[in-house]
Amino acid sequence: MKQQQYTLSIFILLIILSLVLTGCASSDGEEDRVVYISNETGVEAPLVIPAEYRDKVNPLAGDPAAIASGSEAYFALCSQCHGEDGRGEGPDAAGLNPRPADFTDQEQMQENTDGYLLWRISDGGDFDPYNSLMTAWGTLLSEQEIWELISYLRTLP
Ligand code: HEC
Repeated sequence: MKQQQYTLSIFILLIILSLVLTGCASSDGEEDRVVYISNETGVEAPLVIPAEYRDKVNPLAGDPAAIASGSEAYFALCSQCHGEDGRGEGPDAAGLNPRPADFTDQEQMQENTDGYLLWRISDGGDFDPYNSLMTAWGTLLSEQEIWELISYLRTLP
């Protein structure tokens, strides 16, 4: 009887262990990416893009009409913080901490997937770990308008 109980508990332990291991393996594979915050806030956290955005791809990438509308929207809505040249030094950027992102940073923009950009522009920065004044544009702009903005941002680096 003792022996049986022992075998049973080993068996259960193995099941739990394999569940834990497969759980880790099937998680989103982004543990190695760390959130990017545009100045020295000291915040380090794993980057977890919400599932509803993560795998989205810009259907308007490189489209000249989309880039033109995106550029218009950028100068109307974003340049006061992110700067006319996209370097994050617009007139309203002074005193912001964290500072607006620099879209001319080639390395960073390469790391920023379409899904990441769609998420950050839609949901803004009013949550952990960002806690920034980046506006949540998802309630003000359509997804198409945000893709147009992203098409324009991709021309900046
Ligand atoms: C009130 C100032 C402000 C305005 C206006 C603003 N942003 Fe931001 N934005 C920020 C700040 C500050 C950050 C950096 C902190 C963060 O990541 O939340 C940021 C970050 C971002 C990021 C993340 C970039 C990265 O590399 O992680 C994107 C994308 C972005 N903004 C796009 C836009 C777009 C597009 C607009 C216009 C539709 C816009 N922002 C308007 C302040 C602003």
